[in-house]
Amino acid sequence: MCGIVGYVGVRPCLPVLVAGLRRLEYRGYDSAGVALVDPNSALQTAKKAGKLQVLVDELEANPLQDAVTGIAHTRWATHGPPNDINAHPHLADDGKLALIHNGIIENDRELAAELEKEGIRCVSDTDTEVAAHLVAKAYRETGDLTEALRQTVLRLRGAFTLLVTHQDHPGLVVGARRNSPLVVGLGEGENFLASDVAAFVEHTRTALSIGQDQVVTITPEGVTVTTFDGTPVEPETFTVDWDASAAEKGGWGSFMAKEISEQPEAVANTLRGRLTEDGTVTLPELDVLRERDIRRVVFVACGTAAYAAMIGAYALEKFAKIPASVELSHEFRYREPLVDSHTLVVSVSQSGETMDTLMAVRHAAENGAATVAICNTQGATIPRESDATIYTHAGPEVAVASTKAFTAQVVACYLLALYLAAEAADSSVKERVEISTALLAAPDQMSEMLGVGERIAEMAKWMADTHSVLYLGRHVGFPVALEGALKLKELAYIHAEGFAAGELKHGPIALIEPGQIVFVVVPSPRDPASLHAKVVSNIQEIRARGARVIAIAERGDAAVLPFADEVIAVPPAHPFVEPLLAVIPLHLFGMELAMAKGLDVDQPRNLAKSVTVE
Ligand code: M6R
Repeated sequence: MCGIVGYVGVRPCLPVLVAGLRRLEYRGYDSAGVALVDPNSALQTAKKAGKLQVLVDELEANPLQDAVTGIAHTRWATHGPPNDINAHPHLADDGKLALIHNGIIENDRELAAELEKEGIRCVSDTDTEVAAHLVAKAYRETGDLTEALRQTVLRLRGAFTLLVTHQDHPGLVVGARRNSPLVVGLGEGENFLASDVAAFVEHTRTALSIGQDQVVTITPEGVTVTTFDGTPVEPETFTVDWDASAAEKGGWGSFMAKEISEQPEAVANTLRGRLTEDGTVTLPELDVLRERDIRRVVFVACGTAAYAAMIGAYALEKFAKIPASVELSHEFRYREPLVDSHTLVVSVSQSGETMDTLMAVRHAAENGAATVAICNTQGATIPRESDATIYTHAGPEVAVASTKAFTAQVVACYLLALYLAAEAADSSVKERVEISTALLAAPDQMSEMLGVGERIAEMAKWMADTHSVLYLGRHVGFPVALEGALKLKELAYIHAEGFAAGELKHGPIALIEPGQIVFVVVPSPRDPASLHAKVVSNIQEIRARGARVIAIAERGDAAVLPFADEVIAVPPAHPFVEPLLAVIPLHLFGMELAMAKGLDVDQPRNLAKSVTVE
């Protein structure tokens, strides 16, 4: 959840580190800090509670001396409140070593007690500080910073990316990772370490991903990677497939606004080169599945990604005729799920680092399942540990709440369904051609949907004081309702619930009272399963009890007009394309309502983009 950057090179590194932190601020924004090492000065640090700007102001007021080596951190608090003392970097007892950390060290209390017996007291509430003292102690014994970090990580339990720098070693930063991300950026006469390529992509797009339980040492001249036990490792190099401008606002008021508007392009990129109108899917990355006799698909994911997976599961059964289900990753592992070599476990994760999902994938692999990742982030841990990966190619998603990742994930699930459908004897070619043609037209229809922005902004203004909003949908509209509700909670801090419309009479209808705002995702009147009539009945039921109904319905759907206070029109589309269209006004609504309340839509309170702790 925290953001980590390290730099060694020839130029003054503070601006490089601060720019890196800006790009990582989405990972955590309750405090930030830097530590700099230079041959001409002692170790210098600065750290402040609050957003990165507070640190930047502090550095302007009390500048540090130029240095060519440094580490920097933006925090999402787990142990101890966000204050200056708990902010990273943490210094060792001798004041010569600085350390930053992402993750949770589970045995910090017992290590702190052990250190205390030796007269070393932790001054912060964090689980991190013990690691700084331990590395310094091992360094005093070995005189080798890399070896000292290696010895320390063997004593830690939990999840961590650690970076250390030492006053005696300008031009050297050492990192280690277990269950938490770390990538290297390879420059000319300079090298970078970061939790995400975004931190260094403006300097280099050539990267190395550091694997599980590995230690990395960077100098301006080179990079050395070993396992925790010191065995040399040849890391995998990759080229980042987007440039720095993709992670900038580019004239938009917020990343959220930009990313919502990028959804048509994100979906087009997910589809590019992979699907033709006759239903042919080109996904050579899935060739490894040809050996497997897949009889069941289980999606594992959290939050928005789980809603995308729900739609994916409907598609798997519809097109590939394979039983499919979705589980929240954090529930999956702990209920001893029955998976075997005929099970395909598909993880869906924008970041590819979500710890709950990573653990679910590992559990599946240990039990013999095939694993496929649907992921947006190159070099991330979940793709590294999966048998195959379908990258969504949606481009960097910087706003903490997910939007374009959702639609891209849905489409990637469809590609998987159509890929598996080609192997299924009972799959309908006609249906596959219909959905493929419709999907290829979807980006244009999504662009059309973005035209509702102004109207949604007007609606949000008169709803800014509302305390509760409900969302209803059926079939693929149900996960859309869940996603709409999650966006409103996350962005506008308004209580919101999504329900399957069919569930209404089984309880939630008790919530309906005069004035209650209810968004209803209405299936097309042409829907072959006759769900349209059922949803219109649901609308009548809530309207009769005084609810204010906002229907998201197919353009020209006359049946909803008499019962809806507002109708947001969706162009006629294939039932499986409808979610890609209906979700856009809901994303816009969450954002607009948050803006109407004067909230920060890119960095909502308490959240972090990448949830790397369980
Ligand atoms: O990176 P992931 O897709 O694995 O993240 C999963 C969820 O944490 C994420 O979708 C979360 O629910 C977002 N805040 C939704 O906007």
